[in-house]
Amino acid sequence: NTIDAGDFQWSAPSNIALVKYWGKKENQVPANPSISFTLNNCKTITKLSFVKKNSTITIGATKEKFSFDLLFEGKPKEDFKPKIQKFFERIEKYCPYLTEYHFIIATENTFPHSSGIASSASGIAALAMNIMSLEKALNPKITAAFFYQKASFLARLGSGSACRSVKGSVVVWGKHAAINGSSDLFGVEFSGQIHANFKNYQDTILLVDKGEKQVSSTVGHDLMHNHPFAAQRFAQAHENLSKIKSVLETGNLEAFITIVESEALTLHAMMMTSLPYFILMKPNTLEIINKIRKFRSETKIPVCFTLDAGANVHVLYPENVRETVLQFIKDELVGYCQNGNYICDTIGNGSQLI
Ligand code: PMV
Repeated sequence: NTIDAGDFQWSAPSNIALVKYWGKKENQVPANPSISFTLNNCKTITKLSFVKKNSTITIGATKEKFSFDLLFEGKPKEDFKPKIQKFFERIEKYCPYLTEYHFIIATENTFPHSSGIASSASGIAALAMNIMSLEKALNPKITAAFFYQKASFLARLGSGSACRSVKGSVVVWGKHAAINGSSDLFGVEFSGQIHANFKNYQDTILLVDKGEKQVSSTVGHDLMHNHPFAAQRFAQAHENLSKIKSVLETGNLEAFITIVESEALTLHAMMMTSLPYFILMKPNTLEIINKIRKFRSETKIPVCFTLDAGANVHVLYPENVRETVLQFIKDELVGYCQNGNYICDTIGNGSQLI
């Protein structure tokens, strides 16, 4: 097929890792497998408009190999362009048609800008979905399975964890003996039967610090090369993935909490024990962690925390304790959030064509 012009629009969600990806090999191959909950409300919505470069309609510059304009919330955003340029360069060999078009990428997030929530996973995933829609238009024969697998493969080349934002509700990325079909090259939907305890699982994101990231994830992953605890850490991630697989199937919330909190603290321990080191938790992060632990031991309500490579806290809990936990968050935790800001999210279904 040939196609001169058109547009697509996709939303892609953020995701929160339960077993963390930290450390990578060449070509965005993870040093260990990871597993995440796909989120529902925190997402990027991206419209990709395209026009053939040699068509009579010309928009923007056409000289560069990759020609695109970028709009963020309706306004040109130059500082996002290098990341997209690099993404296009990395995926060109899999998507040679990209050089034939001029693109307008119009993107927005449902979560506040600079909230400290990484938008690279949702942003890159939304773009990868749109690119696959263009591929499908050019080659209508591709199957849905190929479409989603390649979308995740492409997203991984842009930002590793983005490959877990294509599908829901639980995604594994990285080869692991106990997960059928798992791959280092793309994320796969968790194929086990997920226990009802995890249905509509809640994630309330406490925005402790909205500042710029102190350490880019590229630098962070690199610090795992020559890290004194790297080998043990990668082995531990494999073990934790095996354990969490059966936890997700049996619904053992106590075991879930043990694994998830340990993974979060291990991620930060790796950053604190690398050279140079990074301390990304803030005093308020620790206050929140202590309050959650106390609340859990007093009430026996199965609420726990996890962390990304930053100071914000994700509070995870089952839907049936939502009211009580939200009240606890309002009464005791919101005071530690910057400007009292937090976001209520739940486990979601992955990218959607709009
Ligand atoms: O996708 P990246 O390269 O930004 O790495 C993200 C790593 C963590 O968010 C810290 C952990 C994870 O598995 O998502």
